[in-house]
Amino acid sequence: MIADRVKNTPPSGIREFFDLVLGMPEVISLGVGEPDFITPWRIREKAITALEEGYTSYTSNKGLRVLREGISRRIKKRYDISYDPDEEVLITVGVSEGLDLALRAVLNPGDAVVVVSPHYVAYPALVAMNHGKVLPLITTEQEQFKINPDRLERLLKKNPKAIILNYPSNPTGATYRRDELRTLWKYLRRKDTVVITDEAYEDISFDVAHTPFAVLDSRARDRTIHLSGFSKGCAMTGFRVGYACASQKFIGAMTKIHSFSMLCGPIVSQLAGIEALRTEKEIAQMTKAYRRRREFMVKELNRIGLPAHMPQGTFYCFPSVSATGLTAMEFAKRLLFEEKVAVVPGTAFGQEFGEYVRMSCANTLDSLKEAAIRIERFVGRVCCEGKR
Ligand SMILES: Cc1ncc(COP(=O)(O)O)c(C=O)c1O
Repeated sequence: MIADRVKNTPPSGIREFFDLVLGMPEVISLGVGEPDFITPWRIREKAITALEEGYTSYTSNKGLRVLREGISRRIKKRYDISYDPDEEVLITVGVSEGLDLALRAVLNPGDAVVVVSPHYVAYPALVAMNHGKVLPLITTEQEQFKINPDRLERLLKKNPKAIILNYPSNPTGATYRRDELRTLWKYLRRKDTVVITDEAYEDISFDVAHTPFAVLDSRARDRTIHLSGFSKGCAMTGFRVGYACASQKFIGAMTKIHSFSMLCGPIVSQLAGIEALRTEKEIAQMTKAYRRRREFMVKELNRIGLPAHMPQGTFYCFPSVSATGLTAMEFAKRLLFEEKVAVVPGTAFGQEFGEYVRMSCANTLDSLKEAAIRIERFVGRVCCEGKR
């Protein structure tokens, strides 16, 4: 009774693996994809007050106007780009809904979508469930997991309907400077490809100031669906609130779908989102903590013999485990059972990445220190086995 495209979509590699972790005591989980911080108090307080004051209704389909205005104002201030809060901003249920709406709005059956790999686990499934076809654009460790323009140019010959750009990237932490984005745009502008940008981690950028793709020029703005939200930067994953900014043609189509499928985002979360726009200080504090942890973890991993490049954003690192002689899945399973440290095998982010694992630094420094001790012990043991 189930549609083929749903039946044929494999379950998330992360879920499968974390079903194993559930119920195991004393596990240090470097697997989770969310901040370890609790949402800043002033945001939670706003949500509590909203409930006390009786805010329990639907909102307009597009979302509360004050929130749309606030988002538009913040984007203008941060990046000097204008979006009309009435026609060009839509409040979504997290970036997740924004991604689904964008794909639903632009894809006809059989349309190709370029997915930069390694990729966030949801992209291939969302493309498939929206009747699209994935064109993987593989990036390599040697190129810091950034798009190679020649490879992009070759894929563009297949006339993809859309490309999903996620930066800073889950799982690699790679991001792009403005000049690098310009190079990508030089190739993309020759085609009609819609650029869907997943900028969920924009707040957690370390070494490179985040640049939304849409700021490059007016044609880029016209072609880009900019998706972001509060889940990662403001530690608000459970609130389920995000937004899409784009020209009216995209936002109009996405709002049409959203108004029938979702109606609107939760009102309490939207009100909390208004407060989240005032938490630049808290965002900076959390980002500072991720930066310190990433520096610790990457240094430790390289010392232990698991080479990892320095992520430029997010709270992930993506070391190679090939020196152990184990596949990523073997490494992750044995590390979990023998040392009680959970990491995610790279294959969850693309079949080609079976020599990598993703580790999340969204943990206290003490937990990361203990995890590093356990990983070092494990790698030492595995390497001794290999020499016997
Ligand atoms: C790249 C990326 N996009 C989107 C999401 C989902 O974000 P949200 O919680 O806003 O739906 C995640 C969550 O892990 C992610 O890593």
